[in-house]
Amino acid sequence: MTAPRIRVGIIGCGYWGPNLVRNFARHAESQVQAVCDMRYERAARVAAEFRIPAVLKHGSELIQSQDIDLVVIATPSDTHFELAKAALETGKHVLVMKPFTTQVEQAEQLCALADRQGVLGAVDHTFVFTSAVRRMRELVSAGEIGDLYYFDSVRINLGLIQADVNVLWDLAPHDVSIMDYVIRQDPVSVSATAACHGGSPTENIAYLTVQYGGSLIGHVHVNWLAPAKVRRTIVGGSKKMIIYDDVEPSEKLKIYDRGFSVSTDRSAENDYQLMISYRTGDMWAPQLSTKEALAVEVDNVVSAIRGREPLVTDGWAGWRVVRILDAAQRSIREGGSLVALGTASGRLYPKQV
Ligand SMILES: NC(=O)c1ccc[n+]([C@@H]2O[C@H](COP(=O)([O-])OP(=O)(O)OC[C@H]3O[C@@H](n4cnc5c(N)ncnc54)[C@H](O)[C@@H]3O)[C@@H](O)[C@H]2O)c1
Repeated sequence: MTAPRIRVGIIGCGYWGPNLVRNFARHAESQVQAVCDMRYERAARVAAEFRIPAVLKHGSELIQSQDIDLVVIATPSDTHFELAKAALETGKHVLVMKPFTTQVEQAEQLCALADRQGVLGAVDHTFVFTSAVRRMRELVSAGEIGDLYYFDSVRINLGLIQADVNVLWDLAPHDVSIMDYVIRQDPVSVSATAACHGGSPTENIAYLTVQYGGSLIGHVHVNWLAPAKVRRTIVGGSKKMIIYDDVEPSEKLKIYDRGFSVSTDRSAENDYQLMISYRTGDMWAPQLSTKEALAVEVDNVVSAIRGREPLVTDGWAGWRVVRILDAAQRSIREGGSLVALGTASGRLYPKQV
């Protein structure tokens, strides 16, 4: 006998919510039972397109419904915590959009609550489910890149200036979640600077630097006031380097066999001289799956609920990103000061897919 489909309720049918509705509606093992938006007409439009039986205006109605197994929260970030907490308290699985919460303590509370209830508390870190980012992680884990030197990510474009969230909390969750997934190391400290321009109510440009142990450094540049769209991540290591360009229609990932090595010459006539040799080997671009990242993510969430796979982006992944953003925001307030982070190793980096 086949298991009944997982019944999904989606709160928030603005820009991103309909993408989740489409992917859960198409998945063979889930069905969208209800959609909800405080702007009712938005939910009604999506419901008509995907033939969803229930259209609701209040998140609480959907959360209390007996006909829902998984609550998906696609509302603005400052509403995530209350909605997710209420849904977890009813014993439902929860998938929350990025950023998981707006405060570190809230993320901790949600993770603990999901554990107590024995349900899934997942976060939508969409880029982690792209074929390019997964390949980056495989290359790093397999030692192909060698010792990691740096992770450098740029995500800039013109707009969409937002009043309720700054560019750091809007765009940087993508880069920080990619960095967390690829590097899988505890950050030691964070510093950041940001600025507002042209009457923007929130910071529209931010530079975030993350120090890891040794000399590994992470850097993220996000900006809503750039003349062109750039989505580029570079990972540098002792053996190879990767460029991930998400704007490229094909060959999004390029792996360069390039680098340098240093040796010292202590010959008689040369008391002490650095010898630097450069290596400029081949570049190759691996074949990548073009499957929509959100479809891969939805499949992982469904499989995790069924107990077939571990959740790739669990609440702790959300917590790790919020922790870095929170420290960055503190640093911005303090004029770019270095904000130390406590250790978070062990359970926070599960052996995952
Ligand atoms: N992974 C990605 O690539 C990606 C892309 C865009 C947005 N997002 C995330 O998705 C979430 C939503 O972003 P968006 O751009 O769709 O925002 P949006 O403003 O376009 O849509 C949010 C919707 O939620 C509704 N809403 C707000 N509070 C509600 C409540 N309490 N009950 C019911 N409905 C409520 C609003 O009426 C609105 O229609 C955010 O967390 C954002 O960060 C993720």
